[in-house]
Amino acid sequence: MALPQFIGHRGYSARAPENTLSALHAAADAGIAWVELDVQCLGDGTPVIWHDTHVRRCSDGKGRLKELTLAEARQLDVGRWFDPRFEGERMATLKEALDVIAERGLGLNLEFKLDHRDEPSPLIDAVLPILNGGLPRERLLLSSFSNDVLDEIRQRDKKAPLGILFSEEIPRDWLWDAERLEPESIHVDWRYMNEARAREIIEGGMALVCYTVNDPDRFNDWWDIGVTSVISDDPLRFDRFTRALEN
Ligand code: G3P
Ligand code: MG
Repeated sequence: MALPQFIGHRGYSARAPENTLSALHAAADAGIAWVELDVQCLGDGTPVIWHDTHVRRCSDGKGRLKELTLAEARQLDVGRWFDPRFEGERMATLKEALDVIAERGLGLNLEFKLDHRDEPSPLIDAVLPILNGGLPRERLLLSSFSNDVLDEIRQRDKKAPLGILFSEEIPRDWLWDAERLEPESIHVDWRYMNEARAREIIEGGMALVCYTVNDPDRFNDWWDIGVTSVISDDPLRFDRFTRALEN
């Protein structure tokens, strides 16, 4: 799999409300090749594109996402909080987001969000059938902070393109997870990057993906180590650096 140098975090979330269809169109309009989106299930089992466990931060409602039906979630305005220009934006289902991604020719890093108290099966049961056949494998990467999610996807699909997400420091035994899951990529919070570990990942033949990088000046030295991709709210901020790298 060839990952691009830049992936739009939650769509193009610097230009449109995160994890919405508008954020996908904004990414495609700006020439961003891939987007990262978060997926989780509503109370009625519908997979939707959403980051938080609650709806307050990114809508005009309040309460827990997993206590809403799709009909209730659709009542929420998920655009106005970002900018009045996006008033009327509705929460996107995974299916709707995939349709836009396919239509606009984007690649997708889909991040499975799972509360550590929940079982992974309902989320995976809901998501995998929607993904099947929706995008070619070379334009899809499935990631999660939850090894329960990744293990279960791997059990069901030996060829699923997986990314292991680490928060904070990459643990010393990261290779143990990698040998079991055979991921395409390791995703690291760039603030906790460690050069020795970064080199191990790259030498192991995996892509090294850094999130969420919004300051090109502070990140610049990491490119030399061999970082594959950066997930950014605003990939276009890196324009002058990518031009320099390409030359
Ligand atoms: O997938 C990378 C990044 O999105 C992980 O953190 O909290 O923004 O979903 P978060
Ligand atoms: Mg995410």
